[in-house]
Amino acid sequence: MTPHQDSNFKQIEQAFIAAIKDSADTTALKEVEVKYLGRSGQITELLKTLKEMSPEEKRSQGQQIQNLKTSFTTAYELRERTLLREEIETKLRAEFFDLTYSEIAPARPLDHGSKHPLSILQKEVEEIFAEMGFEIADGPEVESEYYNFEALNIPSPHPARHTQDTFFLDHPTDPKHGHLLLRTHTSPVQIRTMEKYGAPLRVITPGRVFRYEATDATHDSTFNQVEGLLIDEGVGLAHLKGIMSEFLKRFFHDEITVRFRPGYFPFVEPGIEMDMLWKRGKEQKWLEVMGAGMVHPNVLRAGGLDPEQYQGWAFGFGLTRMALLRYAIDDIRLIHSNDLRFLKQF
Ligand code: PHE
Repeated sequence: MTPHQDSNFKQIEQAFIAAIKDSADTTALKEVEVKYLGRSGQITELLKTLKEMSPEEKRSQGQQIQNLKTSFTTAYELRERTLLREEIETKLRAEFFDLTYSEIAPARPLDHGSKHPLSILQKEVEEIFAEMGFEIADGPEVESEYYNFEALNIPSPHPARHTQDTFFLDHPTDPKHGHLLLRTHTSPVQIRTMEKYGAPLRVITPGRVFRYEATDATHDSTFNQVEGLLIDEGVGLAHLKGIMSEFLKRFFHDEITVRFRPGYFPFVEPGIEMDMLWKRGKEQKWLEVMGAGMVHPNVLRAGGLDPEQYQGWAFGFGLTRMALLRYAIDDIRLIHSNDLRFLKQF
């Protein structure tokens, strides 16, 4: 081996090491490989010369040329590994998609529903009366003339039938029950519960009622009432006043003054209107909150009870009206408007 050849190998090695190092990506690196180890690459050419060498030359140079090839391969593989890792990382970084927070598609905010004011208040009313020993009863919204009027001492023709304008259904029923209709009050459930459970009885019946009338800020054709019925021996109006005062106190979280005035409802005798003293700041006024009275003997009889043995009182109030008072809502039509801006406040 001549010093010339020796330094020649060194130069070649330095050159390819530099070229390998400078390869910015695997494509550039491949080009370096072709340049040295391709069919007519520099190292390949050197390897070809081995064949023409004398055994003497082969011994001195063969190993060096082999070493050159090994040196290249080692440097090449090392660089290739680094470049591949870098390329994968770049690719991953470019394709990274943050699923927890993305500018492109931010997660939709969770939208919670809220309870309807009527549902909230109905539950409160039910709880207060349940604590006082009342059960919750239910009745159909599509009623018959019999339950809505006849059994409640409103025979036909009776002027009181016209005080509650009725939606009649175009559906004939048997002579006893008359036409089907949308109940105009929850009072028909008085008859249904008496028929079903007899006496003594203590129930409230929350439910929807319907009136065929023009709507405005204080009237809607659909609203909610709560009926109450208590039947036992030796029952009087004093019980009613006591129970209702207690109810209003718990419902409005305040001491509420009530007053009774005579009122007319065919299904009670005597009939009363109950008012409560409504205070807001300095302002105070009497508000009519419910109809009530002692259950009429004809109604007890229609429910299958003996008026000589049992007495009872009944009341009916508008849950919708209570909602307006409780939440200071100034237009009843908001209640069934399905307006989310309204509903989200509860
Ligand atoms: N049903 C009556 C109404 O809707 C209210 C009421 C119920 C009155 C019970 C007296 C007794 O106006």
